[in-house]
Amino acid sequence: MEKSEKRKLNREQIKELGYFTRFIKPYMTEFIIGLVLLFLSSVIVMAFPYLAGEMADIANGKSKLHLNLNQVGGLLLIILVLQGIVSYVRVILFTIFSEKSMADVRVALYQKLITLPIVFYDKNRVGELVSRITADVDQLQQVLSVTMAEFIRQILILIVGITLLMISSPRLSLLMLATFPLIVIAAYFFGRFIRRLSKDRQEKLASTNTVVDETLQTIHTVKSFTNEWFEFGRYRDKIQEVVKTALHLAKYRASFGSFVIVVLFGGIFFLLWFGARMVQNGTMTVGQLVAFIAYTMFIGGAIGSLGNFYTTIVSAIGGTERIREILSHPVEVTTNRHLARPLVTGNITFDDVQFRYPTREDVPVLKGIDMEIGAGRKIALVGSSGAGKSTIAQLLLRFYEPTGGQILLDGQPIAGMELQSYRSILGLVPQEVILFGGTIRENILYGNPDANESQLIDAAKQANAWEFIQSFPEGLETKVGERGIKLSGGQRQRIAIARAILRDPKILILDEATSSLDAESERVVQDALDNLMQGRTSVIIAHRLATIKEVDCIYVIEHGKVIESGTHDELAAIPDGAYSSFAKLQFDTSE
Ligand SMILES: Nc1ncnc2c1ncn2[C@@H]1O[C@H](COP(=O)(O)OP(=O)(O)OP(=O)(O)O)[C@@H](O)[C@H]1O
Ligand SMILES: [Mg+2]
Repeated sequence: MEKSEKRKLNREQIKELGYFTRFIKPYMTEFIIGLVLLFLSSVIVMAFPYLAGEMADIANGKSKLHLNLNQVGGLLLIILVLQGIVSYVRVILFTIFSEKSMADVRVALYQKLITLPIVFYDKNRVGELVSRITADVDQLQQVLSVTMAEFIRQILILIVGITLLMISSPRLSLLMLATFPLIVIAAYFFGRFIRRLSKDRQEKLASTNTVVDETLQTIHTVKSFTNEWFEFGRYRDKIQEVVKTALHLAKYRASFGSFVIVVLFGGIFFLLWFGARMVQNGTMTVGQLVAFIAYTMFIGGAIGSLGNFYTTIVSAIGGTERIREILSHPVEVTTNRHLARPLVTGNITFDDVQFRYPTREDVPVLKGIDMEIGAGRKIALVGSSGAGKSTIAQLLLRFYEPTGGQILLDGQPIAGMELQSYRSILGLVPQEVILFGGTIRENILYGNPDANESQLIDAAKQANAWEFIQSFPEGLETKVGERGIKLSGGQRQRIAIARAILRDPKILILDEATSSLDAESERVVQDALDNLMQGRTSVIIAHRLATIKEVDCIYVIEHGKVIESGTHDELAAIPDGAYSSFAKLQFDTSE
């Protein structure tokens, strides 16, 4: 699977990098000193081949410098130590620079993500977004900390190395330049081709893991359907594909090995052979030849790695584009903690509200909803699946804007209110409560982190949760969520209710809060909900009509419209009404 993005640098992408300067700027000092040290160490390294050649010449008695072996050895030692110190400091500086600037990018990205509107999450997959925070930033960090430095260093080595060679032995250098780079570049492309094949194998292997994952996670389903044979076959087929790809790959890998041995080493030996002849006829000293070969290796290494670094840099820039896309997205809220809660009474009016989801603009979901919900009143939304009930709740939460009509709170359009302070008066109890990893205490306090102990316990009591919390040995400190104990649906529901009680919202939205519970826990939870709804404007979405008999008004929603409204008794009295036929179905069969 090849990525479609072009691995090429262009002016746009250079500009992308420019965008990141604001993250890099605060750590510029470290970066610049690091660059200077990098320059120093690259130049120092180039003294090695020269000194190695010098040693050979001294041993042969042909040195033009007036140094003995010990002096050259001492010089080498000094250079080594110097080199060691310089690269130590450089690595530390580059790490400070890249870690700190990328931490800033990560934090900025995360802050952005959680303040983006819900629509953004409809249009982007969560897995992809997480990969942007981790993989894309990692890649960028890799470039800033290592790759870029290496890239610059290899270029310096290339320039300095070739210059030195041209000065010391021009003839052999020209011969080398005519052959060696070609071989290295060929080897590079060959190597890249092989890497691509091995990535293919990697992916195939990963997809076998998916089979294992899926199967083991749904092992109950597999066993109950006695489909072990099917899963077994699926896995075996996938593994065979891996083997096939691997064997295909092996052919190229093996020829790559032979290629390197024959051509690359052949090239070096050819140069050695040519140089040795020059030594023989006196146009070159042994030392010069030693230095020459050593420089050639350096240069070869530099050319070979440049290609790699280039690819890494370009794909990191691809990553920055995706990061920047998120960072430049307009947010809907801030991460400020303390917000003024507006004083409202809680009258809600739906005035001809129409709506289409931004991701499916051709489908009208709400086609003119009119509702009048008095402060402190309870209303219920009923209707068949897909009618638009949850959508109404989402509009009330302002996860989306209506595409027509408006919603008013105490006579004011909610669209004009500051979003976060508006949301601060709402409370939601969803059907499926997912608790955060942490203790029960933390999960309840999520509703109001400033609540004190007695408020917390009070809320738990009102939510009918105190009893079961106390039955755990660790009480409020019991760990729940992914790593903790598993609570039942009804228990989680009651934690969510305690949370909502602490939050003390003016307006409450219950989206099928009891529909996944059995009759027993439904009664306890319903009781908790009744406590919660005291004195709040409540919008209840329910499938089971028994839970909403007492509400002030029931709206029957069908195909995005209110088709009936009234109290339970009023609606049940309509002979062929939608509600009465619902009611007949539910009450006749259950009683
Ligand atoms: N995020 C979304 N993007 C696009 N379409 C959506 C989205 N959410 C819901 N819909 C569509 O909007 C319509 C109404 O959905 P909604 O969730 O409001 O139904 P509902 O009345 O709550 O149904 P249920 O009783 O099954 O919960 C459905 O046709 C659904 O496919
Ligand atoms: Mg729904």
